[in-house]
Amino acid sequence: MILAIETSCDDTCAAVLDGPRILSNVISSQAAAHAGFGGVVPEVASRHHLELAPAVVEAALGQAGVGLDEIEAVAVTAGPGLIGALLVGVSTAKAIAAARCLPLIPVDHLKGHVAANFLEPEPLQPPFLCLVASGGHTLLGAVREHGGYELLGQTLDDAAGEAFDKSARLLGLGYPGGPALEKEAEGGDPEAFEMPVAMARDPGLDFSFSGLKTALVYRCRELGPDAVAERRADLAASFQAAVVGQLISKLKRALKKGDWEAVALGGGVAANGPLREAVARLCEERGVRLKLVPGELCTDNAAMIGSAARFAAPIEYPDYLGYDAFASGETAAA
Ligand code: KG4
Ligand code: ZN
Repeated sequence: MILAIETSCDDTCAAVLDGPRILSNVISSQAAAHAGFGGVVPEVASRHHLELAPAVVEAALGQAGVGLDEIEAVAVTAGPGLIGALLVGVSTAKAIAAARCLPLIPVDHLKGHVAANFLEPEPLQPPFLCLVASGGHTLLGAVREHGGYELLGQTLDDAAGEAFDKSARLLGLGYPGGPALEKEAEGGDPEAFEMPVAMARDPGLDFSFSGLKTALVYRCRELGPDAVAERRADLAASFQAAVVGQLISKLKRALKKGDWEAVALGGGVAANGPLREAVARLCEERGVRLKLVPGELCTDNAAMIGSAARFAAPIEYPDYLGYDAFASGETAAA
């Protein structure tokens, strides 16, 4: 029985897991607190985590119907992410674990996104090819065992979610940008504007999204504010199609390079409807099994951190008292 805590960005999350079974998965979104700024303000995020963490942990235990005396280990996202935000989660987890002399299990956030696929119902077994696309990262990983993945390719500049967020802001849509842009795109024509699908001829498996964002800036300048307002749905749909196009083209290439029998997705962008449909079509064409977790397990949550913790190394009490969070750097996959 694991209590897991995730505070790497702007969601305060806690979950209780019994093996691969989710007993509770509480997510307190701070989106409203950051919406006025058009993006996450790190200091605001840390302060909100500090206020919310105790209540979110209590809610997770309450919804699971589990007392702290039944918890066997405390898992927490140690990085990468916003350092102030991570520190709140790590300190909370250390305090709860230390009070009961329980082990602490630090978890890499990206391995957490992959591990969402190990949760019930129908946990996916390695090996599989995993596309992780979030607000901070975009990568293709070869998952050959539960505890890690081999990095096959990653973004050279912006992450896919970051491109969604910045483009949504440019189009005057709300925050967070991904869901807002997807909604706007529903009424638009994905072929209305030609957008570059970057890295299309590149033989490798890396991604690039900053050129696409710049292309959208130029389209908006050419059109002027009135035409942008009028064609917003078409602009959103064309942009979204280009992001999905690049993700699919690299996934196709990775499938060609390896002998994969299963594909999985992870990260907030994996909640995107058109991406899920395109990946489903590709997997059907190739006769490859596809695992799609529900949208709420794609975006940040603590259940995925608890899931990764089952395959990570615990640190016994009191050896973790000096353990620190990391903003970046220790993102080594394996
Ligand atoms: O994994 P996540 O919750 O946090 C990070 O680890 O970054 O991902 C958040 C990102 C944001 O950029 C958000 O705009 C994007 O995922 N996102 C989406 C959708 N839902 C969330 N992007 C496109 N379509 C969506 N439906
Ligand atoms: Zn994430």
